[in-house]
Amino acid sequence: MTARVVVVGSTNLDLVVTTPQLPRPGETVLGEDFRTVPGGKGANQAVAAARAGADCAFVGAVGSDDFGVRLRDSLVAASVDVRGLRTVPGPSGVALIAVDQAAENFIVVAPGANGALADLTDDDRAAIGAADVLLLQLEVPLPTVVAAAGAARAAGTTVVLNAAPAASLPAELLDLVDLLVVNEHEAAVVSRAAEPLDALLELVPRVVMTLGARGALYADRFGRRLEVPAPRIEAVDTTAAGDAFTGALAVGWAEQGEAAIAHTLRWACAAGAACAERAGASSALPDRATIDALHDATYRGTP
Ligand code: RIB
Repeated sequence: MTARVVVVGSTNLDLVVTTPQLPRPGETVLGEDFRTVPGGKGANQAVAAARAGADCAFVGAVGSDDFGVRLRDSLVAASVDVRGLRTVPGPSGVALIAVDQAAENFIVVAPGANGALADLTDDDRAAIGAADVLLLQLEVPLPTVVAAAGAARAAGTTVVLNAAPAASLPAELLDLVDLLVVNEHEAAVVSRAAEPLDALLELVPRVVMTLGARGALYADRFGRRLEVPAPRIEAVDTTAAGDAFTGALAVGWAEQGEAAIAHTLRWACAAGAACAERAGASSALPDRATIDALHDATYRGTP
C-alpha cells in the first residue's frame, strides 16, 4: 500500500555557510563555502516523505520572487503534488544557516510568504481528508496549523505534529494531535516540565522524542515505551536530519500503523542518520533504498 501523506507547512530558501566555528553573539567569523539549498521544515518533510515512498501533497506558500520559483521547482522535482502551493506577493521564506565542523548549526528563519498561509481551501481540506497522515510543523501561522489538524481529525486522518521550532502550544491544537514528534529541547518547551515525557503524555496520546546521535524513543498513553539506538555515522550536516526522520516516520506509520512502531522508529532513525551524512537540507534527504540499506546494515537481526 502506498502511503498518502499531506504536509501543511513552510518552504524556505536556505542560505548556508560552513564555518570552522559558530559565531558567538557580537562576533564575526570567517566562513568557508556558501550555497543556497531549498529547505523549510514543511517542504523538507514533504520531500522526505515522497523520497521514502509516499504519495505526498504539500500545502504552503512561496513568494513572487525568484526564490519562490526555485522552491516550487524543487518540490515538483521530488514528485510532490503542489496543487496546494500558493504564490503570494512579496518575498519567499528564507533561512540563514551556519554549519560548523562538528555538524552543529544555527538557523534563523525569516518567514516571508509562509506567514501568508492564512486559510485552507476546500481542495486543501479534501486532500487532508483523503490522506492517511497529515504532517504539521510550526513555521506557518498557528491558526492554519489548528485548522488543518481539525480537518484531519474530522476525516479520520492521523495528525502528526512536529513541534518545531519549539513553542508552547494551545490545548485546542494538542487535543487534535495523534502523535507528537519533538527533540529534547522542544519536549521541554511544550511540556514546561522537568520530566517532559510523562507531562507530554498528559497532553497528547503518543510521543516520539528524537535524541540526536543517541536515537529516538516512543511512548504512549497505553503503556508502550521503547527506545532505539541511531546508526553510527560520520555526521557532516544535521540541518534536515529531523525532517528526514519525521517524513520517514509518517510514511512508516501510514504504511504499517501503530503495531509496527518499533520497526518504523528504527527506519526513521536510519533516514535521519542518512541525511546527516550529507550536506544541505533537501538535497540530503535520502530515498527509500538508501534508508532501507542503512536500516538493514544497522539493525540486522533486531526483532
Ligand atoms: O529543519 C531544517 C529547516 O529549518 C531548514 O531547511 C530551514 O529552512 C528551517 O526551516
